[in-house]
Amino acid sequence: RKHLLTIEELKRAEIEQILATAAAFRRVLDRKVKKVPALRGKTIVNLFLEPSTRTRISFEMAAKFLSADVISFDASASSTTKGETLRDTAQNIQALNADMIVLRHAASGSPLYLSKVLGIPVVNAGDGAHEHPTQALLDVFTMREKLGDLKGRKVVILGDILFSRVARSNIHALTKLGADVTIVGPSTLVPHWFESMGVRVSHNLRTALADADVVMLLRIQHERQGVSHFPSLGEYTSMFGLNYTRASWVKPDAIIMHPGPINRGVEIDSDIADSPRSVILQQVTNGIAVRMAVLYLCAGGQPEQVLTPVE
Ligand code: CP
Repeated sequence: RKHLLTIEELKRAEIEQILATAAAFRRVLDRKVKKVPALRGKTIVNLFLEPSTRTRISFEMAAKFLSADVISFDASASSTTKGETLRDTAQNIQALNADMIVLRHAASGSPLYLSKVLGIPVVNAGDGAHEHPTQALLDVFTMREKLGDLKGRKVVILGDILFSRVARSNIHALTKLGADVTIVGPSTLVPHWFESMGVRVSHNLRTALADADVVMLLRIQHERQGVSHFPSLGEYTSMFGLNYTRASWVKPDAIIMHPGPINRGVEIDSDIADSPRSVILQQVTNGIAVRMAVLYLCAGGQPEQVLTPVE
């Protein structure tokens, strides 16, 4: 039985295996094949206790492409509203013969907790400000598609790093793959202690953007901040929002990324989000193949096995 809980715990070879399996699934999807039989007979439950658009739909599509039965849990119509705990909810889903749970939850460490109390694989779809492993995997998959090998490539992650699970997972993935990572933003949201994760910390946007091969933007997560010493959205935009002028500081062949949801006019202006340099929607599309690979491998699938189309 395998789980995907964090990127931090993965070895480089395991990341490579997931990316190679995702590339194989991507080739199958590119052939317009509707389904492969890999997970026929398995039931996957998407247990999303925080809002999501991209992650939930792409996990659902990934499961369907693998021929699994997939059930998406509606938290607002569930017995969690009557006080049922995460543990009881998940154990009941297991008792209903689910074969795997994909969990999104506001509490950091909740996927690890479920992995200890359940007997089925658990996949982390984002836990608090801790990790979002499949987002980082689809991000590095997209970077490689555009840039090739990431060794020595300069990746700038700009925005609310402190509260970002996407930033943490990407830092782990990118440093393991040999990229040169700089995190940038206001000092309250980009503290120097992140240097212990093997990245450069900068509060000078122009200098950081000048030699970037990738600029990854992050949303300001006011829902997690809770206290007032962080900049307001207006202050953030005026200092760090990626507008036309600031985007001109970036090399013409650099790519612009964002995990979504984007807040147009806050961390990114529309003319940058919709420009040819933006790969934001390609990230979303790649999420399906990457999540197919994760579900397949967590279910015990062999990466080298031929993926035979059934329809
Ligand atoms: N990138 C991401 O996790 O988006 P959702 O919250 O919409 O799933």
